[in-house]
Amino acid sequence: MSSKVSLEIFRYDPQKDDSPSWRIYTIPYEEKNTVLGALIYIQENIDPSLAFRYGCRYKRCGLCALEIDGKPRMACHTYLREGMRIGPLSKLPVIRDLVVDRKSFFDDLKKYGLYIEKKEADVETAVEPERGARLRSCAECLSCLSTCSRYDFGSRNFGGPFLFVKLAQLQFDPRNSKDRFQQAHTLGIMHCRDCKNKCFCPNGLNIYGDAICSLLEK
Ligand code: FES
Repeated sequence: MSSKVSLEIFRYDPQKDDSPSWRIYTIPYEEKNTVLGALIYIQENIDPSLAFRYGCRYKRCGLCALEIDGKPRMACHTYLREGMRIGPLSKLPVIRDLVVDRKSFFDDLKKYGLYIEKKEADVETAVEPERGARLRSCAECLSCLSTCSRYDFGSRNFGGPFLFVKLAQLQFDPRNSKDRFQQAHTLGIMHCRDCKNKCFCPNGLNIYGDAICSLLEK
């Protein structure tokens, strides 16, 4: 194995650049180094202007999700290999380089009331079913949106898999008292019926089986 690896990384600053470009960086190879480790190395040693996000470094916060060799992956949990091509999650608006705009997705949670209200939270609760617990492995990385064939940022006709996972989490939450089926239908879940399993979760969540089907089943 060579003692160096070269990576191709997406660069784009909408404030300054006319169009995106791909830049090659060559860094020392270290066994078990991750893509996130490589990005941190590049930022600290080669190019401080490279923008990317991360938080927990443990596959929990979802902030480091990127498209690596054409597939969404958690950068903190993906081993580095020669020739990797690393870009932002596709279909999401790029703020700069590998950083995508997450704000509008979290605004939607507020807009559609996708949370447990205080008065519901006070209720004595039963045990959450197993499927509900599985759905909580969603790290809110938004990778599912970038692999959804129907999702189109800015279109209000279809909520997309991220909102459907949130709705399914609420549906299985013993404290929930709202009609989450109706909300899912209003947000266009019927479009998912024939799609089946195409949206991908890098944390291994079965979005179609556990979230979408449970909201279509009523
Ligand atoms: S840094 Fe939190 S999931 Fe990767």
